[in-house]
Amino acid sequence: MKKPIQAAIMGVGAYLPDYRLTNAELETIVETNDEWIYTRTGIKERRILKGEGQGTSVMAIKAVQELLKKTNTDPADIDLLICATVTPDMVFPATANIIASEIGATKAFSYDLMAACSGFLYALTTGSQFIESGMYKKVVVVGADKMSSIIDYTDRATCIIFGDGAGAVLLEPTAEDVGIKDAVLRSDGSGSKFLYMPAGGSRRPPSVETVLAREHFAKQEGAAVFKFAVTNMAKAAVEVMERNQLSAEDIAFLVAHQANKRIIEATANSMNLPMDKVLMNIERYGNTTAATIPLLFWDFEKDLKKGDNLILAAFGGGFTWGSIYLKWAYNS
Ligand code: COA
Repeated sequence: MKKPIQAAIMGVGAYLPDYRLTNAELETIVETNDEWIYTRTGIKERRILKGEGQGTSVMAIKAVQELLKKTNTDPADIDLLICATVTPDMVFPATANIIASEIGATKAFSYDLMAACSGFLYALTTGSQFIESGMYKKVVVVGADKMSSIIDYTDRATCIIFGDGAGAVLLEPTAEDVGIKDAVLRSDGSGSKFLYMPAGGSRRPPSVETVLAREHFAKQEGAAVFKFAVTNMAKAAVEVMERNQLSAEDIAFLVAHQANKRIIEATANSMNLPMDKVLMNIERYGNTTAATIPLLFWDFEKDLKKGDNLILAAFGGGFTWGSIYLKWAYNS
């Protein structure tokens, strides 16, 4: 269905820290090996943001600055900036406020959105509403996470998965038949016991006890998360296809959250999509939480053509999950 005003992604920027945490280095930190990690997850290395006082905003600012340069956008023209993250610089103020101020988005209002690995899908859908309603003309949606700040590098089942990174897109209105078409978004808080950070919030504020018990790190029951992710990411992707009468032949690419290669393959399989239509960079960056989907746009921007039908899909802590159907809006 074509809406009167469509919100379209008109550019993408990203930032990845230089430091590469390889499987070989992880072998020196925990009892694991390259073969185990690669066959279970598809990951070879991840990027890590090093240095004192370096928060998620450091990466997000660089990603947005690249975006503004590429799209020739004056930061003073930005109406709204949303940052999807579970690793904000601080609990408050919002990391989005810090980013907006640093890039010179003087007119914008800005806020963080927390939906773990589905954060970018939630934020993209939210941002697009402000465009489709006619309220705003330029919305920046950022997905950024410094996962290394909440990862326990003594927990071998978790530390092998995550990395740091940031990606950002510019949403603008278009009258053409491109842009964000439909979204299926879901959440189920009963999944919170399988993937969460026990302390640091209002329920269990930081104390010597919480620190000693290593409760300020992400805890995950990997097998349970895997099972939910495989089922729900695939279900959401198939639902958005069916709702829009799309078959596998109509789809140019699946742009799936990079959590685990096997989860992505299972999703593609449910969609009857061959693997050459699946964008993948998990091998190089691991799971960067809210950043994975914009990082895929950024990495494969040259392969995306105006009018391409893309299905985005994600699953994450909460549980949160969903899918988006969009038509790519430009040739780079
Ligand atoms: N290296 C070597 N062995 C490891 C290991 C590692 N890094 N991590 C765990 N193991 C061991 C376990 O100790 C266990 O050994 P045991 O059988 O002797 O007890 C064995 O491997 C199997 O553990 P299990 O946790 O069942 O492994 P798994 O096959 O489920 O794979 C994950 C673990 C984390 C890779 C997998 O569950 C996964 O990817 N889950 C989804 C995670 C995810 O995507 N999270 C983000 C969601 S957005």
